[in-house]
Amino acid sequence: MLAGKVAAITGAASGIGEAVARLFVKEGARVVLGDIQHDKLRRLADELGSDRAMAQECDVSQEADLKQLADAAVSTYGSLGVWCSNAGCYHREGVTPLDGLIENLDTADFDRQVAVNLRGVALGTKHAARAMKRGGRGGCIINTTSVAGLVVNCANSGDPVLVSAAYSASKHGIVALTKLGACELAPYRIRVNAVAPGYTATPMLAKTIGLQHLSKEELEAELAKVSIMPGVALRAEDIANGMLYLASDMGRCVNGHTLVIDNGLVAGVAGYVPGLETDTA
Ligand SMILES: NC(=O)c1ccc[n+]([C@@H]2O[C@H](COP(=O)([O-])OP(=O)(O)OC[C@H]3O[C@@H](n4cnc5c(N)ncnc54)[C@H](O)[C@@H]3O)[C@@H](O)[C@H]2O)c1
Repeated sequence: MLAGKVAAITGAASGIGEAVARLFVKEGARVVLGDIQHDKLRRLADELGSDRAMAQECDVSQEADLKQLADAAVSTYGSLGVWCSNAGCYHREGVTPLDGLIENLDTADFDRQVAVNLRGVALGTKHAARAMKRGGRGGCIINTTSVAGLVVNCANSGDPVLVSAAYSASKHGIVALTKLGACELAPYRIRVNAVAPGYTATPMLAKTIGLQHLSKEELEAELAKVSIMPGVALRAEDIANGMLYLASDMGRCVNGHTLVIDNGLVAGVAGYVPGLETDTA
């Protein structure tokens, strides 16, 4: 589905980004992989093959790195057709849910999340669009937001669980950037969309909920137990499939859209009113 396309993916060394890299290559794309975990990234690029993938150290909070990533796609593979702003971060390790409240806001932590999650997406769009406009063949930009970018209570059921202010605000901002980018770049046939994953079995989620000691399969089993769709845990591959749809010609008229992949979590919590009893009559 992506034969002949060149894609750049940030946060590609792990989790969702790694799954996107593997799927895009399987579907015929050549990929430029960016991340701050360079050893892991290089191992993945080696495994995918040097004719298909290259690793480029890229910290998305640094504009020069994003420019280099876009330029590397053009200089190595001749064009840039798909850009995935997928890198993201949560609080530093060891924070409790209370650290996410506005009243406990830590300026450095807040600024880091905004710089990576939000500014990284804005500047990624800037440099991807520049390369795509030069190519003159349109393109597709996909941003990874979150269910926390759509609602602020992400409990599966029962009492509301407020998500971190810094994380949620930065992920809500990505939805706005996606709509703005879609309108600004439509004249150049560059589409800008987002995916909003629910709780997905990746190292980031494992760390966030203190289950980093579990294997991928064990983590999935734990998530499956609390999923609103009994027994079904979201995998990184499920999110990658959504990105493939948006990146391929199947999504050719989809623009400014946020594709929610969450087992239906947001559909439920959006209408959840704390304190309202379930009607059992
Ligand atoms: N896993 C979930 O439940 C979930 C839910 C909603 C949204 N997301 C989002 O999905 C995206 C991917 O996360 P994941 O779950 O695959 O986590 P992950 O930790 O497995 O992967 C994230 C990758 O981003 C990289 N990264 C972090 N900061 C970076 C920076 N400054 N520059 C470049 N790379 C950087 C990390 O090194 C890592 O390889 C993130 O944007 C995250 O916010 C994840």
